[in-house]
Amino acid sequence: MSDNAQSSEMDRRERNDADQIHIFDTTLRDGEQSPGASMTLAEKLQVAELLDEMGVDIIEAGFPIASNGDFEAVSEIAKIAKNAVICGLARASSKDIDRAGDALRHAKRPRIHTFISTSPVHMKYKLQMEPEEVLAAVTSSVQRARQYTDNVEWSAEDATRTDHDYLCRCVEAAIKAGAGTINIPDTVGYTVPEEYNHVIEMLRERVPGGDTVIFSTHCHNDLGMAVANSLAGVKAGARQVECTINGMGERAGNAALEEIVMAINTRNDVLPYWTGIDTTMITRASKLVSAVTSFPVQYNKAIVGQNAFAHESGIHQDGMLKHNETYEIMTPESVGLKESSLVMGKHSGRHAFREKLKDLGYELGDNAFQDAFVRFKELADKKKKIFDEDIEALAGDEVAHANDRIQVEALTVIAGTGGPQKATLTLDIDGRHVTKEATGNGPVDALFNAIHALVPHDANLQLYQVHAVTEGTDAQAEVSVRLEEDGKTVTARGADVDTLVASAKAYVSALNKLIVKREKTAPGEMLAS
Ligand code: KIV
Ligand code: ZN
Repeated sequence: MSDNAQSSEMDRRERNDADQIHIFDTTLRDGEQSPGASMTLAEKLQVAELLDEMGVDIIEAGFPIASNGDFEAVSEIAKIAKNAVICGLARASSKDIDRAGDALRHAKRPRIHTFISTSPVHMKYKLQMEPEEVLAAVTSSVQRARQYTDNVEWSAEDATRTDHDYLCRCVEAAIKAGAGTINIPDTVGYTVPEEYNHVIEMLRERVPGGDTVIFSTHCHNDLGMAVANSLAGVKAGARQVECTINGMGERAGNAALEEIVMAINTRNDVLPYWTGIDTTMITRASKLVSAVTSFPVQYNKAIVGQNAFAHESGIHQDGMLKHNETYEIMTPESVGLKESSLVMGKHSGRHAFREKLKDLGYELGDNAFQDAFVRFKELADKKKKIFDEDIEALAGDEVAHANDRIQVEALTVIAGTGGPQKATLTLDIDGRHVTKEATGNGPVDALFNAIHALVPHDANLQLYQVHAVTEGTDAQAEVSVRLEEDGKTVTARGADVDTLVASAKAYVSALNKLIVKREKTAPGEMLAS
């Protein structure tokens, strides 16, 4: 047994139920509400499987009334979950709750999470309901959810801008109606730690029955305090934290799971709690979520950013060489980060490549594996050194593009000072090969014009970003593209040693995501011609 495994075994023996923080992951629901971060069903299943394996207690799998896709995701995740409670979100209406109940009918451990706004501004302008009507809806919605399961969570949306006396009445009504978990969302990321701590403490003290339920935190990051606020809630007695991988979520996102869990583990002297999370799976989860949503992780992001364990300055490097505790408060291994290692070369076979992928947390289906292997061989021919990061970029690309209807087949670009720059592009569209030549203001513009000519669309390019996966002039480029159409945004990534090929892949992948979105409203429209 390794040292790490041994010490966590010791921790487990000392663990006391009252100090357990239940981790409620909402990457697949609130996280997916990040503009442009939609995931396919296959991607959601992959993420859910990993969350379940890493020890997440409750997975909020979606909002079943929101779309057929969300319904299917909740229903399919409910079937495959081994340990986690699977939760579906519902507004305080019978239709929503019945749909959530239906989506969860195969779950071993279902939970319905129902919510309604309680702040004056939300009740007046959003709901256009009187406080007494909202109060009645709290009772009826929880009672209806209880007809499907005895595991019901109730949330007071915009709780942190709600009058305290009124919040107490709502929470009391929810508990009386049968809710076992009471969530206090900081919906707009407005609160500060002291205030949030006080709200949770006040509810636990004042509400009759408050000692029979689990209070939960759900903090958004608009002022950058989501994690601090959540932990302040925990200190006041909350025992469930709602969070997301990489802090994904509406606007500035939600509290990041990895930060909550590692803060508790690292500062257990002042945060004497525990979670059931296997922290060595954190890096894998972060990379998977980033790959399927095409949301890059900020370089200096706590715990999972590329620089989180990098030491640049001479003084720091010197300290690290003498003793790693000089500048490291947790080990990279504790979050599953392995040293960037030189891996296989062009002589490596399928078996070694599959093992390497497994090691990095990727299990590709047969076709995706075959494609990834061919690309690995091509890469090994072009690039002197192949690092884990190269293989991750390649596998992430395969995961993200596995079901794409449009694929990049071939690209030739003429660039340089002469101008105009010209791109000749061949796409495979549903098995048809089509080629177009286009000019533009630079090679990227020429390329995007060629794509536009082959797949006419009205989407606006909102973001085009390039970064190198590893060091060196032969490094792979990873390109992110965000498109917007009719208020809907999608983000996609593409990787290749050639920046222009990576750009084509990213743009085409974003179009594929738009097609999926469009098909839900007007089937067959985009590729009809
Ligand atoms: O932020 C929020 O208030 C929510 C609720 C639906 C729980 O996401
Ligand atoms: Zn939220």
